[in-house]
Amino acid sequence: MVKVTVCGAAGGIGQPLSLLLKQSANITHLSLFDIVNTPGVAVDLSHINTVSKVTGHVGNEQMEEALKDSTIVVIPAGVPRKPGMTRDDLFKINAGIIRDLAVGVAKHAPKAFVLVISNPVNSTVPIVTEVFKKHGVYDPKRIFGVTTLDIVRASTFVSELIGTDPAQLKVPVVGGHSGVTILPLLSQVSGTEKLSQEQVEQVTNRIQFGGDEVVKAKAGTGSATLSMAFAGARFTLAVLDAIQGKTGVVECTYVNLESDPEGGKAIKQVVGDDVTYFSAQVELGKDGVSKILSVGKLSDYEKKLFEAAVPELKGNIVKGASFITDAK
Ligand code: APR
Repeated sequence: MVKVTVCGAAGGIGQPLSLLLKQSANITHLSLFDIVNTPGVAVDLSHINTVSKVTGHVGNEQMEEALKDSTIVVIPAGVPRKPGMTRDDLFKINAGIIRDLAVGVAKHAPKAFVLVISNPVNSTVPIVTEVFKKHGVYDPKRIFGVTTLDIVRASTFVSELIGTDPAQLKVPVVGGHSGVTILPLLSQVSGTEKLSQEQVEQVTNRIQFGGDEVVKAKAGTGSATLSMAFAGARFTLAVLDAIQGKTGVVECTYVNLESDPEGGKAIKQVVGDDVTYFSAQVELGKDGVSKILSVGKLSDYEKKLFEAAVPELKGNIVKGASFITDAK
């Protein structure tokens, strides 16, 4: 039995993500959890003629039923920023939502692989970690921040410039999942040697701030949902493949560097000991993280990007972790 639970399944990301997961023959039970509307979404999806059973669960009293026996829990739950709300107000609300869901997972699905989409991922993944530590169920190999949209955007934007098939082009993007913490390693992509330094800088900036293009185009009605759902489904299915024994699955994802102490140590040699979470190319196996790959050779420009990223990433990690550790 493979049960995948989506927390926040009625939302802008959650619904298309659930639709994409419903198409997988590898999922036997798709469980949709939210504080609103999941019964309707579940019945709608259940008419699609694929093997998975779909169930909808609403509110805290149905959380146990939603989560129990989950193989994977994907979390795109959250609230969008409303007028008058500061980023900090938004952080506190979303951090509280993630904390409560993480407590639910720790209690009802302690063996599940947890894939966090809710932003700010740089901070929400440390929140899940600290909650799991408190509940004695922490295994760093099974907690992931989904950064796949950065990879997807990088493939698209770089392909536009160098004229390759975006579906085939792999661009490693490491670091964190917002703004200057996003580190595209273009020097490692063949074909980019024909780009000028100016083009490299422009496309790097576009990858780092790609989310803003969507926010602007949606004119205040939301952020990336469809492309995020695509990326979330791709990562979920990659994790599932690895759990089910497929070898050679490598994805860029945001993990605690403790999940592979040896690989983590090599990353820390580049970014310093205080960076405890990092998105890197990670080899996935039956137990989750099996190996964190090194960041490889960096160009001088990429080294500068790393220098700018490290302080912000460190701050984001501390902010998330201390939301739990400093709570009374
Ligand atoms: N438990 C479960 N679901 C919740 C909870 C909760 N405690 N609180 C809110 N939700 C649900 C909402 O009811 C909604 O259906 O999460 C969903 C969020 O959907 P949207 O508001 O449409 O937001 P979306 O655009 O999908 O983004 C969600 O992902 O990328 C991030 O920054 C984004 O953090 C945000 C999250």
